[in-house]
Amino acid sequence: MEKFLLLLVLAGGCHAFLPPTETKCDANQDTSPCSPVVGGSVCIKLLNNATNYKLKCFKDDLQFMYFYRGNLDIVQAYKNRTKFFIGTGTLKMTNVERSDTGQYRVERYDPDGQRESNIVFSLQVKGK
Ligand SMILES: *[C@@H]1O[C@H](CO)[C@@H](O)[C@H](O)[C@H]1NC(C)=O
Ligand SMILES: *[C@@H]1O[C@H](CO)[C@@H](O)[C@H](O)[C@H]1NC(C)=O
Repeated sequence: MEKFLLLLVLAGGCHAFLPPTETKCDANQDTSPCSPVVGGSVCIKLLNNATNYKLKCFKDDLQFMYFYRGNLDIVQAYKNRTKFFIGTGTLKMTNVERSDTGQYRVERYDPDGQRESNIVFSLQVKGK
């Protein structure tokens, strides 16, 4: 039982049994837009493990997050409602707003500093 609980925690703070307002998406597998609800939260899996990566996250070409060598820098407007779970490469946004709808792009650099293909996804926020 304890082992099971531990795995849930390692899964990145996004619960296996989701409350109705929590939306879970995978930027590498989903083909349709990720559709969280206004006021809800959303977990987006970007990559398996970000520990050794450098990442720059953009929404509609505006950068809002930078992760490098364990340091996470999130712009003020997102700070209070954005979390990044490094070990599971998962981005979580709470209190989703309608204006979060848009195109997202994550530039990623591998441990040797080589640029890998961008991670892209879109959010389509739904009203309640
Ligand atoms: C973030 O939270 C802090 C403390 O609760 C608050 O003072 C600040 O105004 C908030 N910032 C934004 C951008 O909402
Ligand atoms: C992520 O990778 C780091 C370094 O390789 C490792 O120490 C850590 O345990 C990994 N995290 C997970 C959740 O697999």
